[in-house]
Amino acid sequence: MKAAYIETCGAAEATIKYGDLPQPTATSSQVLVKVGAVAVNPIDTYLRNGANYWELPKPFIIGCDLAGTVAALGPQVKRFKVGDRVWGSNQGLLGRQGTFAEYAAVDEAWLYPTPQNITDEEAAGCALVGITAHLGVVREAGLQAGQTVFVNGGTGGVGSMVVQMAKILGANVLATAGSEEKVVALKQLGADVAVNYKTDDVATAVKSFAPSGVNLYWETVREPDFDRVVTYLAERGRFILMAGRDARPPFPVGPFYVKGCSLHGFVVFKATAQEQRACADDINRWLASGKLKANISRVLPLAEAAKAHQLQEANTLQKAGTLAGKIVLRP
Ligand SMILES: NC(=O)c1ccc[n+]([C@@H]2O[C@H](COP(=O)([O-])OP(=O)(O)OC[C@H]3O[C@@H](n4cnc5c(N)ncnc54)[C@H](OP(=O)(O)O)[C@@H]3O)[C@@H](O)[C@H]2O)c1
Repeated sequence: MKAAYIETCGAAEATIKYGDLPQPTATSSQVLVKVGAVAVNPIDTYLRNGANYWELPKPFIIGCDLAGTVAALGPQVKRFKVGDRVWGSNQGLLGRQGTFAEYAAVDEAWLYPTPQNITDEEAAGCALVGITAHLGVVREAGLQAGQTVFVNGGTGGVGSMVVQMAKILGANVLATAGSEEKVVALKQLGADVAVNYKTDDVATAVKSFAPSGVNLYWETVREPDFDRVVTYLAERGRFILMAGRDARPPFPVGPFYVKGCSLHGFVVFKATAQEQRACADDINRWLASGKLKANISRVLPLAEAAKAHQLQEANTLQKAGTLAGKIVLRP
């Protein structure tokens, strides 16, 4: 089968190969998925670049997310049959093989049925980012209808899911983006207030949106400014942190605890299969009813996986601003 894979870590153009690898077989509770679409996540680029969070299989097929059709079943599979359409995430992580290939063998615990009205591109584009947003908004923050939410980076992969889910749950949302086009996109995603963080006065916008501060602040950038954010939070406000492994910013201890705020950090790949499936069930319901939409910025052929990684890095790391959502690839 054709696959995008690496044999050594390093820069995308130097390490990502596109070529033939043996097709996997589904054993025990694994499902063999004929891949229809995959999506890029920033963590794919960190792993490829040598982040060394865990040992990678050799060769390592890059990628976490996938959507496609069940082609074969391991003997212990219970939830799926050949021909079912499925999506999932969490491959390529914790030592598992990745998804950027024509076929992937995935344990059924990490797969979910794809709603009929949703394409493989859309399902893959919602996978890791949708589960991340759901874990943060529901499990970590316990967001309630009528509460106020600030999403910093609201058109990004994760941010665009957070904006939509917060609206689905009945919250009021202020979100930021770095261009006028993206401010328009924020409105289309459902944000009540859309702020250009490069040209608008964010503090003034927050003051008029939530005079007593926001109940939930979601950071998607890798260098959080705690001093600034704590001034935006309401009494007992929650602060979600899920990016910036190397960040070591100063922390305003007094203002934070006197307001009774709480800080919630998490990584999606440490959530159990059961927790992630609960997220996927809601995501599927919301996709099927049209309440949640994939936010796809670019679709490329799988052969252009190296270009896709460069584009993701240019945006997530160098802040090029040339993406507004997910990069999806088709084998
Ligand atoms: N903990 C977890 O489980 C988990 C899961 C998924 C992702 N992550 C991490 O979360 C981060 C975001 O992931 P992603 O997939 O959403 O990446 P992404 O699609 O590249 O989004 C990054 C966002 O940051 C925004 N941004 C950049 N500079 C900004 C600034 N100064 N102020 C406000 N917003 C700014 C961008 O907005 P503009 O384009 O408008 O500038 C964009 O919306 C990555 O570091 C990723 O590794 C962690």
